[in-house]
Amino acid sequence: MKKKSDIKKETPVDYSILGSIKKRWSPRVFAEKPISEKDAKILLEAGRWAPSASNIQPWRVIWGIKGTPIYDRIFNCLDEFNQSWAGNSQMLWLNAFKKTMNNGEQENFHALHDLGLFMGNVIHQANSMEMAVHQMAGIDFKKAQKEFQFPEEYHVATAVAFGYFGGEPEELSEDLEKQEVKETRERKSQEEFAFNGNFQTK
Ligand SMILES: Cc1cc2nc3c(=O)[nH]c(=O)nc-3n(C[C@H](O)[C@H](O)[C@H](O)COP(=O)(O)O)c2cc1C
Repeated sequence: MKKKSDIKKETPVDYSILGSIKKRWSPRVFAEKPISEKDAKILLEAGRWAPSASNIQPWRVIWGIKGTPIYDRIFNCLDEFNQSWAGNSQMLWLNAFKKTMNNGEQENFHALHDLGLFMGNVIHQANSMEMAVHQMAGIDFKKAQKEFQFPEEYHVATAVAFGYFGGEPEELSEDLEKQEVKETRERKSQEEFAFNGNFQTK
């Protein structure tokens, strides 16, 4: 079976786009190379400068590097499927957002959007450092909320696995190994999601 370094992912674009966007993908195995605290701070700094509605910056992150108790506590909040591979990562995050506006009463309907922008910056920065990022919705968010003592007005939305590219796909289950080495990447066509006029169902 192929080694990770042999894997070539094909990104069939219809228009020429940035090379850094084309080369990004989400692996489930990572190199042994550790992630330092400084790396973590650089990624968080990139996220810090993301735009957000009214500059509320609703994102909150719990981060833990492999080999520390925080990493293990985050790992224990992942669902069974994600636990089957995310232990290959060198760093784990839990991402939460503040559900309310700064007055603490009205709901901030754009908080999840802003957390996505935060992660967009993080991914972009990680990419430039040859680091891979794999986001996860599969978490026990209630357990995470309790474990890390988030107050009621926060929602733990996602977890994220980080590591440098270059792990061994054969460490995965047969199914996941197949996905890991699959060369072609798929996306909807622009016609399915972008309309220069009324909404259409395709
Ligand atoms: C918000 C979000 C949640 C995701 N949840 C999971 C997850 O729980 N488990 C998993 O293995 N992958 C998860 N993914 C990864 C996606 O499946 C992946 O990004 C998608 O298939 C596109 O592949 P690519 O990132 O390699 O381009 C998630 C991605 C995002 C953005």
